[in-house]
Order: sequence, then C-alpha cells, then structure tokens
Amino acid sequence: MTRIALLGTGLIGRFYTESLHGKRSRDRVALVYSRSEENARAFAEEFDIPRHTTDLQAAVNDSEIDAVIIGLPNHLHEQAVVAAAEADKAVLCTKPLGTNAAESLRMLQAVEKAGVFHGYLEDLVYTPKTLKALGSVQAGAIGDVLWVRSRETHPGPHSDWFWNKEFSGGGAIIDMGCHCIEIARNFIGKDIRPVEVICWADTQVHPVDVEDHAVGMVRYENGAIGQFEVSWAFRGGMDLRDEVAGTEGTIWLNHWLRTGMEMFSAGGQSGYVAEKAESDTGWLFPVGDEAAALGYVDMFTDVLNQLESGGKPMEDFYDGYIVNAIIDAAYASVQSKQWTAVELPLWRGRTNVPHVGVSRDFDEEHLLIKREKMPSGATKLILRHKTTGEVSQRVVEAE
Ligand SMILES: NC(=O)c1ccc[n+]([C@@H]2O[C@H](COP(=O)([O-])OP(=O)(O)OC[C@H]3O[C@@H](n4cnc5c(N)ncnc54)[C@H](O)[C@@H]3O)[C@@H](O)[C@H]2O)c1
Repeated sequence: MTRIALLGTGLIGRFYTESLHGKRSRDRVALVYSRSEENARAFAEEFDIPRHTTDLQAAVNDSEIDAVIIGLPNHLHEQAVVAAAEADKAVLCTKPLGTNAAESLRMLQAVEKAGVFHGYLEDLVYTPKTLKALGSVQAGAIGDVLWVRSRETHPGPHSDWFWNKEFSGGGAIIDMGCHCIEIARNFIGKDIRPVEVICWADTQVHPVDVEDHAVGMVRYENGAIGQFEVSWAFRGGMDLRDEVAGTEGTIWLNHWLRTGMEMFSAGGQSGYVAEKAESDTGWLFPVGDEAAALGYVDMFTDVLNQLESGGKPMEDFYDGYIVNAIIDAAYASVQSKQWTAVELPLWRGRTNVPHVGVSRDFDEEHLLIKREKMPSGATKLILRHKTTGEVSQRVVEAE
C-alpha cells in the first residue's frame, strides 16, 4: 500500500482519488492539502481521507507519507516538486510538468539529485485503447510509424487560472497539446529525437490573451510527423481522437464522443453526463467508467507498481521535460511562422537514426511503387527503374 499526500482538491484531484480509491485498490490518499480549510475538510470527508491540511510543507514532510501527488495549477508544480524531493518523497506530477522546458528541466534535476522516484502523470498514453494500440505498434503490426495525428478539443477549461498565462504558461497548446505530443512520441518512439515544430495558433473566440485553437506538426529525426490539433473553442463536448499511420497499417482511436454508448433523453439526465459534455438532454454520449477510459486507472497501476518494485514508470519527469521543450518550440513557431528547432540541452535518446522510408525491390532493375487490384480483376503494378528513374506500369491479367 502506498500512502499518498494529495496536493490540490480540484478536478484532477477528484479523478486521481476516485481512481486510487476505486475498485478494490490498496492505495490510499492519507492526507490532502488545499489552501482552503473548507475545501480540504470537505474533500477529506467525501473521500474518507483521514487527515487534511492547509500547510503544503507539512503535507510533503509528513512522516506517514510515501508519495506526493501534485494536482495544483501549472505555475505551482515546480515549488511542490522541489519541496517533495527535498522531503525525500516519491513525487508524481500531473501534466504539463512545467510552464516551460527550463522549469521542467529544473524539476527533473531536483528529483534526480534527491534520488527520489518520479512519475509524470500523463494519463492519455494509458487509456486501454492506447495501451492496446501501442502493443500492436511495438509488435510491428503497422510497420514503421510515419504520421500520428492526435486531437483534443473541448469548449474550454473549467477554472479561471487556465485562462491566465501567468498561471498556466499558455492556452490550449500547453493544456492539451501536452497530451497529443506525448501520445505521438509514444507511437513514434520515445528514443527518436523531436527536431523541429511548425505551429499555427490563434485566439478565435474567447476574450483572453492565450490561444484557444492551434494546429502543429512536430518533425522527428527519423522523418516521422506528430500532428497535434487542440481547441478550447470546439462545441459539442470533448473530442479525443488519435490516428496512427504506418508503412503497413493504420489505427484509429476514438476515446470520448461516440465510443459505443449513445443515449437519447428528452427529459435530461439531471446534471453530469461526462467530462466537458455540453448538454444533458437530446442525444448524449455517456462514458461507462470515465477514470478508466481516460487512463487514470492503468496509469496509477503502472506508476505505483514501479514505485513499489524500484522500477521506472512508462512516463517520468524526463518525458515531461521533452514535452515542454516541444511546446516551447511550438510557441516560438507561432510567433515566427517558421519551422523552429526543439532546444534539448539534455537528450538521452538515440542519435543519427535512419529515415522511416522503405524501399521495395521488385526485380533486379525495378523498385515497386504501388500494386493495386483493378475492377477488371487484373493487377496493376507501378514500377520505377533503378538507374534511369523512369516510372512505368504493368498490367498482370487475372488468372
Ligand atoms: N488529464 C489530466 O491529466 C488533467 C486533467 C485536468 C487537469 N490536469 C492538471 O491538473 C492541475 C490542476 O488542474 P485542475 O483541473 O484540477 O484545476 P482546478 O482548478 O479544478 O483545481 C486546482 C486546485 O488547485 C488549488 N489552487 C489554485 N490556486 C492555488 C494557489 N495559488 N495555491 C494553492 N492551491 C491553489 C485550487 O484550490 C484547487 O484545489 C493542472 O496542472 C492541470 O493541467 C490534468
């Protein structure tokens, strides 16, 4: 059993606690911190947490705590990480790790210097569908990954601080692009270096100083592309979708809207339907087990198993730092309107990796460009001559 101090009693604190205490889990939030006594007490009562405090230092230094989970606004992650590391506690931090890569790198250095366990709580790489898809990709089911498209859009976040750059570090890119970027990294290969980013962003709808819509592309050293599409201006609930295109196959994932449960209710279902749902009448898309569908259950299973066994979780602070570095390049690209290099003062992956492109030999003289079965039943072959480069076609009649 891991005894946890939870910092923050907002939306993510609720999801985390429900996931940890859910089913027959042995892990417990043993102490909860909130800056407001009233919120701390109410949260502790609701989730049967024995102790609560309004003193963050006391929470992380508590002698009966093994691990600290950080569920505070983005600008407070660094000080909480440093306090937990100095208290010699395992530290698990929500996304994004920092408001920029410099902050994230300092957090990585703090936990490594202290020698404490660290986990980056990137739940969306742990959804059951994503884990299944990652297994298939790693087993070679779709060949080499060429392009990953990841999309997270909804009508905007639920708390004031997200909309204020000073507290959040940015808009939809840092809030949701962090998920999409890490999903793509997992499919493309976390040891492949992200090289450069081009990104468009705008504030299309909301009266704020941060972007509420963005589309970006991250080019990796092996030529693969990770595309992220994020919006706080999307209407209709929360849309979470991923596409993975490989040399030998394709995967499409739909995590939220229209995932298999569709319900019509004329009278309304009196309140909450699913995260960021915009209506409780008409056609609705409820989710059977939200915490599981969003990856929280498998995430804590991995992270706490690794903590107990002295291993390394699927996502740690190094990953959070790489994601922040890609986001920094995206913001710079929005300003310059140019492809912008990802600055990685620390890189632990591979270098000089080969390009993902494949070459298919057809015969001694030709490469095969394309083979297609035609309506006549014949097979058409498009070929390229190896020395002259000439492109030609051959039709092989059906037998
Ligand atoms: N899928 C995910 O992994 C996911 C989802 C939602 C939020 N998050 C992350 O979790 C963190 C918190 O987001 P949230 O949705 O729970 O926000 P929230 O606004 O619902 O809750 C924030 C919590 O922090 C507290 N807080 C705010 N300002 C504070 C301050 N100055 N000092 C101390 N406490 C303060 C609030 O009282 C509240 O308890 C953010 O980093 C966010 O990006 C992650």
